[in-house]
Amino acid sequence: MYNRISDNLVHGQGLQIGDFCLIEDDVVLGDNVSISSYAYIKKGTRIGNNVKISSYVRTGENCVIGSGSTIKPKCIISPDCFLGEEVFMGPGTIMIHVTLERVHKPSTIQSNCFIGSMCLIDPGITIHEGIVLGSKAYAHSDLIECGLYVGIPAKIVKVFNA
Ligand SMILES: CC(C)(COP(=O)(O)OP(=O)(O)OC[C@H]1O[C@@H](n2cnc3c(N)ncnc32)[C@H](O)[C@@H]1OP(=O)(O)O)[C@@H](O)C(=O)NCCC(=O)NCCS
Repeated sequence: MYNRISDNLVHGQGLQIGDFCLIEDDVVLGDNVSISSYAYIKKGTRIGNNVKISSYVRTGENCVIGSGSTIKPKCIISPDCFLGEEVFMGPGTIMIHVTLERVHKPSTIQSNCFIGSMCLIDPGITIHEGIVLGSKAYAHSDLIECGLYVGIPAKIVKVFNA
């Protein structure tokens, strides 16, 4: 098994790490975190309890992934992005963090959101609690009303009743 893991990694019980992972300095992992092969966890990342990080995922510096979340393969979570609890992120989703003017603007995905495969999330966007984003959607502005959003740019097609 070959990994490069910082000596100052702080983690809870039950940690599982696959082969060829890279974990930089000042990372904190909760209990029962699993990180699959080839994942790259950058400096200052905070990951809650019972989080599953799949292969080839990359987290940017200082991003936060809330407890119970699942991040499928090849997702890119940019620096300073925030994911709440129980977020599901389908394979190949990318959270962009730099605008056309080269301004760094991290995004937020609130708790209990389902993000389908291969979605694109623009810089500085907030996706509010419980929203579902269909696969291949492009979130170009804040998504506020709780429902299913699909398409490019993502538009609401179904409202979820509380
Ligand atoms: C989230 C999802 C499951 C919703 O599916 P659903 O509940 O069956 O949605 P509905 O059938 O009610 O769709 C409502 C409308 O949105 C459309 N739609 C649904 N998903 C869409 C998508 N991803 N892109 C474009 N349009 C979509 C439907 O065609 C339908 O349009 P219509 O009313 O004109 O017929 C689906 O969009 C999706 O993303 N599936 C992939 C999930 C995924 O990536 N999983 C990863 C597992 S590892």
